[in-house]
Amino acid sequence: MSEAKHINLYEDHEWKHPTIVAGVPWKNPVGTASGTFQYAAVRWFYDVSQLGAVCTKGASPVPWEGNPSPRTAEGPGSNLNAVGLQNPGIDHYLATDLPQLKEAGAMVIANVAGHSDDEYAEVVAKLADSPADMLEINVSCPNVSHGGMSVGTDPVALGKLITRLRAMTDKPMIVKLTPNVTDITVPARAAVEAGADALSMINTLLGMRIDIRTGEPVIAHVTGGVSGPAVLPVGLAAVYRVRTALPEVPIIGIGGIDTGEKALEYLYAGANAVEVGAAALFDPVAPLRVARELDDLLDERPELAAKLAAGRTWR
Ligand SMILES: Cc1cc2nc3c(=O)[nH]c(=O)nc-3n(C[C@H](O)[C@H](O)[C@H](O)COP(=O)(O)O)c2cc1C
Repeated sequence: MSEAKHINLYEDHEWKHPTIVAGVPWKNPVGTASGTFQYAAVRWFYDVSQLGAVCTKGASPVPWEGNPSPRTAEGPGSNLNAVGLQNPGIDHYLATDLPQLKEAGAMVIANVAGHSDDEYAEVVAKLADSPADMLEINVSCPNVSHGGMSVGTDPVALGKLITRLRAMTDKPMIVKLTPNVTDITVPARAAVEAGADALSMINTLLGMRIDIRTGEPVIAHVTGGVSGPAVLPVGLAAVYRVRTALPEVPIIGIGGIDTGEKALEYLYAGANAVEVGAAALFDPVAPLRVARELDDLLDERPELAAKLAAGRTWR
């Protein structure tokens, strides 16, 4: 076995089509979506510095155990999860995952989780002096009882939280939005007015499944978050509507991406970049494969490629 840090299933590649998100250059427009990337596993498949960005699992002030099992279920063209933001806590993240990823040359987006404004603030305070390149504030998880989606669906509470976090750091701050609202442009505007540098969307859709042998919910938390191919049209509509309402804000499109073509749809909807989530759960190489496919598709679309490279978008 060689001492190489990565096994690369892909040959070396010179990226042709970069993008810029909130002033931060990405070598290509494809990152991983939070909660679906684990460095310890992925490093055996590819060089993570090849990605546009690596967005890590939500980190909370102290370790969280997550929800009871069963926590996942299948859906039509989708999956349902109620992991509940299980994670070993921000101190562990700062001591292990983050330095390893930076050493591997990755551009890192640190995803922040909390049950209250104070908890979000505690994590952001610790990340402020860290080597993380960008922060992504998760105000959209449907699987925690406090914080998460309950903040992201209330524009007043969201504005208050982001105003507080904004004052704590100069790091580019992305706010991750939930699709579980009537009009996603309302929280989008509240986040930007409070100082968000960029928005990412979508987090998972609220859903459930029933076991017809018992008549009871399949997952112990009863409801969970729906992700995967079925949510693609929902994510695209969210990006398009926010781009139309807020022409200047950088947007990262997320939801149902498993090919370069689907990533391209998000870029045409008005995104500056994308993140690949559930596809990586059954194909760990998916984010890099999507990035390679997109790089070739952009060859044939010089107008879009030029806009992205200049930090602008199709719309
Ligand atoms: C197992 C699992 C864990 C996730 N954990 C997080 C998380 O910690 N923080 C977060 O902001 N989003 C989390 N998400 C949401 C994804 O990052 C993404 O927004 C969503 O799954 C939609 O994209 P996809 O259809 O490509 O999966 C998680 C999703 C899954 C499936």
